[in-house]
Amino acid sequence: MLDDDTRDWWRHAAIYQVYPRSFADGDGDGVGDLAGIRARLGYLHDLGIDAIWFSPWFPSPMADAGYDVADYRDIDPVFGTLAEAEQLIAEARRLGIRTIIDIVPNHCSDRHAWFQQALAEGPGSPARELFWFRPGRGEHGELPPNDWQSIFGGRAWTRVRDGEWYLHLFAAEQPDLNWDHPRVRAEFEDILRFWFDRGVDGIRIDSAAMCAKDPYLADFDPAAPPEPHPYSDRDEVHDIYRAWRQIADSYEPKRALIGEVWLGDTERFARYLRSDEMHTAFNFDFLGCPWDAKALRGCVDATLASHAPVGAPSTWVLANHDVTRTVTRYGRADTGFEHALRQARHQVHTDIPTGTRRARAAALLTLALPGAVYLYQGEELGLPEVEDLPDHARQDPFFFRTQKTDPGRDGCRVPLPWSKTGANHGFSPAGGAPAWLPQPTEWAELTADDQAGDPDSMLTLYRTAFAVRGAEPGLGDGPMSWLDIDAADVLAFARPGGFACVVNLSGGPVELPAYEEILLASAPLDGGRLPVDTAVWLRIPKE
Ligand code: GLC
Repeated sequence: MLDDDTRDWWRHAAIYQVYPRSFADGDGDGVGDLAGIRARLGYLHDLGIDAIWFSPWFPSPMADAGYDVADYRDIDPVFGTLAEAEQLIAEARRLGIRTIIDIVPNHCSDRHAWFQQALAEGPGSPARELFWFRPGRGEHGELPPNDWQSIFGGRAWTRVRDGEWYLHLFAAEQPDLNWDHPRVRAEFEDILRFWFDRGVDGIRIDSAAMCAKDPYLADFDPAAPPEPHPYSDRDEVHDIYRAWRQIADSYEPKRALIGEVWLGDTERFARYLRSDEMHTAFNFDFLGCPWDAKALRGCVDATLASHAPVGAPSTWVLANHDVTRTVTRYGRADTGFEHALRQARHQVHTDIPTGTRRARAAALLTLALPGAVYLYQGEELGLPEVEDLPDHARQDPFFFRTQKTDPGRDGCRVPLPWSKTGANHGFSPAGGAPAWLPQPTEWAELTADDQAGDPDSMLTLYRTAFAVRGAEPGLGDGPMSWLDIDAADVLAFARPGGFACVVNLSGGPVELPAYEEILLASAPLDGGRLPVDTAVWLRIPKE
């Protein structure tokens, strides 16, 4: 049993996202794997995190880097075996680290047995009812059944040999499942139990708002979608997660559900967090928020206000495997993130020292806010987005389905640099094959080994910050209050127990409020003043 098994750990946890292909390569094939992760569990323990979220590790043809699952109850051979996954879960737990796995319910792989059966059994067969197969429009059915577009670009329908079309909101290799079918529901409920029985503490639910579809599959204008939307955030979707919550609650200790819910409407977002649905969901408003005091304060207030009525804790997220890395984003003139603007912002001028300075300050801001925090692998090393990957190396379907106009997400998925020894900056053992995505040569200066011994490194900042966060009873879940401070564009707030966080987003240094002790600063202070793009954690007099 972990220390806080009896507490609602998901309300305050620091969760580290492992992207298995790119974390550490144990067998030398240039692709990360479970052996690599197991060998680095000590690193994650020393970092001070409470849980690991693993991006998909299931058997997959990797058309979308594992988010195209061929078998939800096994491990892809490139990563290892189910027995190794069980060992990894147990070893992590012995180190006090929980495991969250990534379940992809909206779609499976076109190599999944169900889809293969649906192809083989043809139109009108029960196997086709598990997906969205339809005849085409036009005289010979040569036109897709409706005008829906794939999120990755291009149309959302692909025609099969017998003339029918199937729906895929993502890549053609990711057919959408029909959640109106009881067999789909029963199957995923069983998959949840399969992993919960193996000691998994929680699941991250991929594309969670998209599973329910308008059964009429009507055309619509994406610029002015009808209400309800044909496939996003339909009311029916909530029943799926109510059923999952009952399963999660039937375990001892109870398991947690964490939703990937991209919605602009914070009230609609909070519905997923009602007490009989998910426990938490990723805060993408915060992830996309520009480095701007008013915008950030507005985002924090809106987050807290929308979560309070449902009693759910907030989460704070700066990055993941789908978005531009933080030091790059914050180093640009335009510091927000939006998928739709990735192409326009790609390879614009980036000031990495400024981005890094801001990312350091943002780390302290994020870790001081109330609720749980997520850290995407490599953020603790201050890795930049790799923007100059050669076209032939890119793998993301986003890139190919947009005719190579959108660079896609490969630039944040480049394997981690670990050390000066071994192949691929220590990602692979000596003699290993080239990494599946090439690493920049400059990453020799950003390795985890080098940073571990450097008091000024990003890694040391994160380690220290996680340690302070763990020791401060007022951090994690609980109240916060803004402090009145006589300076514009400064965020200052208090947490219980005489803790304050002050972040300077203005154009010049500012005076600190009265304090007793400096607990941690993201950069050296300027004679007692807080420099630009710097955050500080203070012990302040208790009220
Ligand atoms: C989620 C994942 C993303 C994936 C998509 C389709 O957004 O985070 O990586 O491509 O779902 O599964």
